[in-house]
Amino acid sequence: ARIRRFKWDVKYEYRSPDCVKKLVITINGQSPGPTIKAQQGDTIIVELTNNLMTENVAIHWHGIRQKGTPWFDGTEGVTQCPILPGTTFKYQFVVDRAGTYLYHAHYGMQREAGLYGSIHVSLPDGESEPFQYDYDRNIILTDWYHKSTYEQAVGLTSVPFQWVGEPQSLLIHGKGRFNCSKLITTSLDAGICNVTNPECSSPFTLTVVPGKQYRLRISSLTALSALSFQIEGHNMTIVEADGYFVEPVVVQNLFIYSGETYSVLVKADQDPSRNYWVTTSIVGRDVSRDPSNTPPGLAIWNYYPNHPRRRPSTGPPTGPAWNDTAPRKAQSKALRARKGYVHPPPPMSDRVIVFLNTQNQINERRHWSVNNVSFTLPHTPYLIALKENLTHVFDQTPPPTGYDFLNYDINIVQPNTNATLGNGIYRLDFNSTVDIILQNANTMLPNNSETHPWHLHGHDFWVLGYGDGKFDPFNDPKNYSLVDPVLKNTVPVHPYGWTALRFRADNPGAWLFHCHIESHFLMGMGVVFAEGIDKVGKLPSSIMGCGETLGRHSP
Ligand code: C2O
Ligand code: CU
Repeated sequence: ARIRRFKWDVKYEYRSPDCVKKLVITINGQSPGPTIKAQQGDTIIVELTNNLMTENVAIHWHGIRQKGTPWFDGTEGVTQCPILPGTTFKYQFVVDRAGTYLYHAHYGMQREAGLYGSIHVSLPDGESEPFQYDYDRNIILTDWYHKSTYEQAVGLTSVPFQWVGEPQSLLIHGKGRFNCSKLITTSLDAGICNVTNPECSSPFTLTVVPGKQYRLRISSLTALSALSFQIEGHNMTIVEADGYFVEPVVVQNLFIYSGETYSVLVKADQDPSRNYWVTTSIVGRDVSRDPSNTPPGLAIWNYYPNHPRRRPSTGPPTGPAWNDTAPRKAQSKALRARKGYVHPPPPMSDRVIVFLNTQNQINERRHWSVNNVSFTLPHTPYLIALKENLTHVFDQTPPPTGYDFLNYDINIVQPNTNATLGNGIYRLDFNSTVDIILQNANTMLPNNSETHPWHLHGHDFWVLGYGDGKFDPFNDPKNYSLVDPVLKNTVPVHPYGWTALRFRADNPGAWLFHCHIESHFLMGMGVVFAEGIDKVGKLPSSIMGCGETLGRHSP
């Protein structure tokens, strides 16, 4: 195993990812940031210097379990104090599983200001993937707002509530193109939108050699949007999800939710005399009702030696209807662990926790809640508070483990008048097996239920099943998939449906479990699990310096 060292300079820069000039957070001048390439078992050392001038930062290594290093998970408020401007913080952790992972800011809403990138971990020497490919390519999908993250966050936490709305653009690996004529230009921001800017004048291009097989590592770090990804005229075969090999599934559209990573195989086997469109479009939300009416993101599948700028001779394919949930659920259910790579779950669990996901009004503000509790972060990170027994840092009463199953109707707008803010946590017995049922419901709008991609830090979980309507604790478990379920770290809960997960609480630490939609987490859609705290090693003082640990920081 090797040690891979990186020095990162994190700062704001003016950029025009979709031709509209805006402040973007870059790493060494890049957004998306540099891809971390490593081999299973390697140690990654990232020395991050916060040059944001007036803003804190923290970086989460999404999908990396941080076994033995829970303090380097990068979750501000849970596992560390924020990294102050002008200081350098050293992350050091082992990438213990091959696969495709991500990293991104985990402080405020900074992720959607451009602070994100990929982690590719290759198999140990002598091992190879159970599929063949000639080339390996990386694509991160995001959505893009013209408002700063501060304007968004202030709106979301103000009275009256101001919803961020739909994104203005969809970016394919950091590139998009806004229609400047849609921008209301005043003398103040004239010239802010410039389609001749080389940053945006040509779309992201994948140049392919006819006849070759491509492994595309596609991930999503959208702030809000669920996406459909498509390559005109080409099928894709899903072979990896969240770092695990899956049985091949052939799709025309890949549905992908924020926080998920996939590898798909694509054969460059179509008429090579022309180029093709690569598109992303929003599903699950009706963008046509929003002023931004987000257009699809476009990139080019360029057959060598055609000119990469040559426009495809056809119009970009239109994505699936936003409200057609059937193919999305079908894709979720179709994923199975790859034969020969099956890790079956324990047949029984020790504990079942049901999480009812609701939207509600608390003190005149709009929130998301889990079992009527809307999550707030304490000022001293949980990991430190737990390890040092600082019991006054957060509410010691555990939050509810279920809801009024018999009487609650998930299909109608509910007043949820008992909703509160809270920072209590779920303590799990070390090495116990825990089932989580994520139950979706109607939002505060009639006939509306959203899709929530839930992400678990520090663990992978088995996806036991998905269902429509209210989860039935007596009958639904009979249909759990226990033979070859996929292991994932992020999973969607479909509108008006439920998703059941199982994981082993075998990683000492404090771990966030939350909706990966940036605004939903800011509005309280998350919980914290803690397990095996007595087995957590000595905390580095570099994670301290805030709340109760003021003055205890040393780099
Ligand atoms: Cu990728 Cu807590 O998030
Ligand atoms: Cu959500």
